[in-house]
Amino acid sequence: MPRTAVVPAAGLGTRFLPATKTVPKELLPVVDTPGIELVAAEAAEGGAERLIIITSEGKDGVVAHFVQDLVLESTLEERGKKSMLEKVRRAPALIKVESVVQPEPLGLGHAVSLVEPSLAPDEDAIAVLLPDDLVLPTGVLETMSKVRAKRGGSVLCAIEVPKEEISAYGVFDVEPVPDTNNPNVLRVKGMYEKPDPDKAPSPYAAAGRYVLDRAIFGALRRVPRGAGGEIQLTDAIALLINEGHPVHVVVHRGDRHDLGNPGGYLKAAVDFALKRDDYGPELRRWLVDRLGLVDC
Ligand code: G1P
Repeated sequence: MPRTAVVPAAGLGTRFLPATKTVPKELLPVVDTPGIELVAAEAAEGGAERLIIITSEGKDGVVAHFVQDLVLESTLEERGKKSMLEKVRRAPALIKVESVVQPEPLGLGHAVSLVEPSLAPDEDAIAVLLPDDLVLPTGVLETMSKVRAKRGGSVLCAIEVPKEEISAYGVFDVEPVPDTNNPNVLRVKGMYEKPDPDKAPSPYAAAGRYVLDRAIFGALRRVPRGAGGEIQLTDAIALLINEGHPVHVVVHRGDRHDLGNPGGYLKAAVDFALKRDDYGPELRRWLVDRLGLVDC
């Protein structure tokens, strides 16, 4: 696993307005834990040593979530609120967090490019985690890193998406890898950002987890602005593929939530709440009743 994990969190969160007028989207709670903390935990669990969060003006709260709050901690301690104290201490203890500001909204590729000066000379790859995506169960980054160790280059996470939804994603053109027993590792021949459904070369879409070779920075400097007038990470990966850089995907067959829109966010919140001992049983009873279902 790369030592540095990058989380681009500079977006405006327009789909969540008016909430995101003052609250960064990444701080909206999935039950009680901000999405950014879930993603930081995944990066730490995968073995990353530091998290670089790319933020924009007005989103300082995202990084502040990882700073120890000694006043709050001592108040909770004095009041004997042990479980609350544990919750508050978790984020700052997870991983070393740094931030880089993206001064202009020039896209995901541009955001990632800003990290290059922060890397040590021997860091030959980075992990990128898009905080809109929750990929569950966690662990796909470790699998991706193993594939990179064996095959070199860059490795991305793919999910299978129905044709009606494919245009919301970066889509892979893939072929089997001859020397593997794992049907979920595929070689990528091309990658296209948000194609028309009829032009999508496969149902395999990028799911917001990337292990990128350092060569990505050179490619990001060379791609023109793409979809939406932005510097697209997908275009830089496509360029690397054209130049012979090995790119593979690990197809994730588990769950995935999209926190990037209110509908997907609600599903994630319900899913997480149903698994909790404190809220799950009552939520389940209420849902069954509200939906007129028979519990089994
Ligand atoms: C971004 C990427 C896209 C990827 C998607 C996953 O798009 O550009 O390639 O498939 O995340 O969530 P966005 O959702 O930011 O438009």
